[in-house]
Amino acid sequence: MARADRFVGRVGLVTGAASGLGRDVALGLAQEGARLLLLDRDGAALAEVARQCPGAEARVADVSDAAAMQDAAARLDRIGPPTLLVTAAGILGPTVPLPEVAEADWDRLFAVNVKGTWLALKHVVPRMEAAGGGAVVTFASGAGLAGNAVFPAYSASKGAVVLMTRSLATGHAAKGIRANAVCPGPIDTPMLRDSFAQAGDGAAAREEYTRARNPMGRFGTPAEVAAAVLFLLSDEASYLNGVALPVDGGRLA
Ligand SMILES: NC(=O)c1ccc[n+]([C@@H]2O[C@H](COP(=O)([O-])OP(=O)(O)OC[C@H]3O[C@@H](n4cnc5c(N)ncnc54)[C@H](O)[C@@H]3O)[C@@H](O)[C@H]2O)c1
Repeated sequence: MARADRFVGRVGLVTGAASGLGRDVALGLAQEGARLLLLDRDGAALAEVARQCPGAEARVADVSDAAAMQDAAARLDRIGPPTLLVTAAGILGPTVPLPEVAEADWDRLFAVNVKGTWLALKHVVPRMEAAGGGAVVTFASGAGLAGNAVFPAYSASKGAVVLMTRSLATGHAAKGIRANAVCPGPIDTPMLRDSFAQAGDGAAAREEYTRARNPMGRFGTPAEVAAAVLFLLSDEASYLNGVALPVDGGRLA
């Protein structure tokens, strides 16, 4: 089958589809034939992405809202049995040392990054199993594989995503589910720009530090991450399960 046809006839959910990495994944999947439910809290940006994805539907929702995620999964049923799930919705939270993280910020970070990922799995994976199986890609981070001094609370939340994904991989493979996580390094999206902006007067220095300590000396692009995600979702990756794949230019090598 030609590369441009890898997802013809497949149905899936992409969260965080309005911006950055989720957006490029959605565009790539749609270009290769998938019929998608695109979910994000940013309705205007999501509508614009959905317009560029043939056959896609947009759903404005907060991934941490259990009822909204249940409704979104029920909507998927009317598109067709889902066999693809990508959980890209995420937030960075405050870039401060652990003792300085406000309780409300901690709770929100874990509500979106951890609970939001789990709610998508909770409602979509049983439907995939009923359909005979499917592929899941979660969004962790390089900061979910190694401790991070700049955004430690985010790092903790992404570490949870890695082991949630590996637990799914080990517990559901017999029912046809493959689950892998991508662990991007610094990718040029609004979230990366926010991480620099939070340094205030030190923004330029933080950007330069981040670029300089990458072996490739540059940030990644959303397209480079989307290519890895589409590979992990595709049948070409049929024996890849439980992987936490760095897409980071060698930052963690
Ligand atoms: N950009 C990077 O350098 C980088 C590195 C490692 C991991 N990641 C991860 O990749 C994923 C995508 O990040 P990005 O860089 O594209 O960020 P981004 O901010 O450009 O996009 C994130 C999207 O998620 C949506 N979102 C956030 N909270 C939501 C919620 N509660 N409900 C629904 N939608 C919500 C936003 O509206 C936005 O459209 C995130 O999980 C992020 O943690 C990014």
